[in-house]
Amino acid sequence: MAKLRFLYDCDPGADDALAMLLALGRPDALEMIGVTCVAGNVGLEPVLNNARRILELAERQDIPVYSGAARPIMASQGRVSIMHGSDGLAGSPLPAPKMPLASGHAAVEISRIARAEGQLHICATGPLTNLAVALLLDPELPDHVSAVTLMGGAAFCPGNTTPLAEFNFAVDPHAAAILFDSGIPVTMLGLDVTRQAVITKDMIHQAEAIGTPVAREASRLLINYGAKDPCLHDPAAIAWMLSPDMFETVTGHVSICTDSSPAAGQVVAAVSERHLAGRTPNCTIVTGVDAAAFQRLFLEALGA
Ligand code: RIB
Ligand code: CA
Repeated sequence: MAKLRFLYDCDPGADDALAMLLALGRPDALEMIGVTCVAGNVGLEPVLNNARRILELAERQDIPVYSGAARPIMASQGRVSIMHGSDGLAGSPLPAPKMPLASGHAAVEISRIARAEGQLHICATGPLTNLAVALLLDPELPDHVSAVTLMGGAAFCPGNTTPLAEFNFAVDPHAAAILFDSGIPVTMLGLDVTRQAVITKDMIHQAEAIGTPVAREASRLLINYGAKDPCLHDPAAIAWMLSPDMFETVTGHVSICTDSSPAAGQVVAAVSERHLAGRTPNCTIVTGVDAAAFQRLFLEALGA
């Protein structure tokens, strides 16, 4: 089967880092052709450092890293997450990066790369600001994006940042709204499914037993990040691209609340005919996962 070439837009962040290691551990199936970074879990500078620290750990300095949005579209500054530690990688011992950043802003590079690829698959696991700005800069971008697979949102469950909104959509609700209104096919792995992708002690022990530098850092991330948020949120998006059959889904129309109320960032998911009210579905909403199969997939990618 041909490898899936994809661009990874992210805000590492410990679980973004675990998602990168999952993807890079499966070169038979996935080809990460570039990384675009957005401020989210921590500020843009540590996010950029962390993306390169992980690529250097995996000896993939060949993958270009592009700098992107330092703030959401409308808010003057984002909100960082306390879950990832001050460095964004739960206190990682990894050295500061040596590889340089690639030139060009993420939003511009998303458009350039999509046009060069003809049809680009994008995986996004941070606030969607880079994708939204790319769509504003290049109205024809949807013609060159085959799909967006994203971690974000909470369709049928409470949020984790506000009672109604998940972090990535709470940070930049307008960006999420722009993406869902773009016509690009979106697969949304929200808290509905990622809260089922739990980090277990057995998983940590198996990762520790692998003994490679990558597995050592992954198990450290699982322990330190997992102590605060024991869910593999972002790796679930990569797992979907690798093995969608381990997931359960519904199809519906997703819109995002963008007002300044407490509902900002909330997902409004219409699935029934009555709720759809004639609208065309724009999203595959992932609602369930075979957690054991997901854990096996993750550990095998680490080398177990
Ligand atoms: O709500 C979890 C999501 O927000 C994850 O992508 C995490 O990395 C943060 O970005
Ligand atoms: Ca993230």
